Amino acid sequence: MSSNPAIDLIREKLDIVDVVKDYVPELRKAGRNYKAPCPFHNEKTPSFTVSPDKQIFYCFGCNEGGDIFTFVMKIEGLTFPEAAKKLALKAGLAWEDRHFTGLSPADRENLEIKKALAAAAEFYKKFLFSSGGESARLYIGARKVNKATVEAFGLGYAPPSDNVLTRELLAKGFSKDLLVKAGLSGLRDSDGSPYDYFRGRIMFPIRTQTGTVTAFGGRILDSGEPKYLNSPETPVFSKRKTLYGLDRALAGIRKTGRLLLLEGYMDVISAHQHGIDFAVAPLGTALSTEHASFIKRYAKDTIIMFDPDIAGIKASVRAAEIFMEAGMYCRIAELGSELDPDEYLNENGPEAFAQKLADAADPLDFRMNLFFTNRTAVSSQDKAKAIDELLKTVSKQGDEILKSLWVKNIAARFEVSETSVLHQLKTPGEERKPYETSNPQTMPALEMGFIQLLLKDPELLACAQELEEQDLSHPLARKMFSEIKDLNPEERTRAPAALIGKLPEERALIMELAVTDIPSDLDPAKNAAQTVKMLKKKSHARRRKELSKNYSTLTASQREELKHLTELRGKAGEL
Ligand code: CTP
Ligand code: MN
Repeated sequence: MSSNPAIDLIREKLDIVDVVKDYVPELRKAGRNYKAPCPFHNEKTPSFTVSPDKQIFYCFGCNEGGDIFTFVMKIEGLTFPEAAKKLALKAGLAWEDRHFTGLSPADRENLEIKKALAAAAEFYKKFLFSSGGESARLYIGARKVNKATVEAFGLGYAPPSDNVLTRELLAKGFSKDLLVKAGLSGLRDSDGSPYDYFRGRIMFPIRTQTGTVTAFGGRILDSGEPKYLNSPETPVFSKRKTLYGLDRALAGIRKTGRLLLLEGYMDVISAHQHGIDFAVAPLGTALSTEHASFIKRYAKDTIIMFDPDIAGIKASVRAAEIFMEAGMYCRIAELGSELDPDEYLNENGPEAFAQKLADAADPLDFRMNLFFTNRTAVSSQDKAKAIDELLKTVSKQGDEILKSLWVKNIAARFEVSETSVLHQLKTPGEERKPYETSNPQTMPALEMGFIQLLLKDPELLACAQELEEQDLSHPLARKMFSEIKDLNPEERTRAPAALIGKLPEERALIMELAVTDIPSDLDPAKNAAQTVKMLKKKSHARRRKELSKNYSTLTASQREELKHLTELRGKAGEL
């Protein structure tokens, strides 16, 4: 036992089963012990064990183990004194920080960092309501966020000027070094003088499930770049492990068993303001496996609702796969409009929104809907390719019953036999070549692959300078190539959406090209350069054929051209 009487008292008062149950509600008695799926790694059969006799926990799967203090430290990412304080409160004991001696230097520093972050949150909040915060208050008002929500989420405003916060925190006794470690200040290269990391931004404190501030997101008021600035990774903040809004949502998630995964800060805030209190968001990153295993502990019904753009669609499919790989059930909801959840709620209200949640589709249906949107005729070749693609999702499904249901659904929807789908699932199609996609048109695969590369990254046009529109054989490929070349720099940053704007009737094709992965061993620039070379050769071959067919009627310059093309072929070898 410890030599600290305060710690011994906590141990006496608390039972490890009660402590663990707060975090792992599915803990069940199994003989003398209690068992549950492990909260520290993904598993289906419970190997996480709690022993009331020994007052310890242990996981046979991942070998995590310890007492109540280690458990709370691990599961909440706390230092020992923080965990002790928390447990003291749970035990109904008074707690004073002086109960603590013998902190490790790292723990001491982490505590200091959290103190600095808490002080910064206070400062930003105060500044929002000062005379300097008027423009920010107007902005928040224009975004329809009410006072209660501002309070609940602890929103603030970072002064536009150079280092107001840094000076204030230095005066409070925090060191320059610590402020940099906390991600609140930066140091100028020139003279090492400190400046505020966040300036002129609406501040969203990022908090742990128990409300400790570990980082910030800051939104620019106008249209500057970047729109959102997030704290860097620090000793107390890791994006992969953090969900925005969790401190506000955990009670709702526990109560309903539901969790709504949105894309952004404003979406989460808006959801809560409209009474949807089980909404959280990752922090401008993809959903991580850490997020999934956390969510798994609390939510039975997880709904993903990302923005209705290509990035959002792609991210939802990916997130669904991560959930499936973690052995979880999830659905994907669509708003069926151009609006993101925040805008939708403000425009249509919570009832309409709730209906969209209720209509959420399972990940396979979502993908099938995507395939059939705006598509009338489907060739059998396209079907085969699409089924191949969908089976990738199916193969990630760990639940065998769901898996067989999915096979049935695919067979029904594509009007093919179940046996053939099953067969395909067992002997997955060959790895697809870089330029093949499931596409309703007659465009040659090479040209389609080329357009797909450009859609992913229009800067690859640099590899295609020698390529002309007439080098492409398919009219639609030509049109898309020419439109992509004409995109201005701003449009190039969001090429798929911009191209849909120019060619709305090709929406389905463009979306599909944009969300389909390009499996290739080559890096994109090499892939593009090689594709261009092949396109050029094909184009030459077509032109040669055309010219030689009508040899007798050719003009002198056309004969020259043919001669030149024939020489080129001799040099370059065959395709
Ligand atoms: N994001 C980010 N950095 C950016 C842009 C976005 O980290 N430069 C993250 C933020 O977490 C943001 C989320 O991605 O909340 C979604 O971005 P976006 O859809 O562009 O913004 P909204 O949440 O819709 O924000 P707003 O409504 O304020 O424009
Ligand atoms: Mn938005």
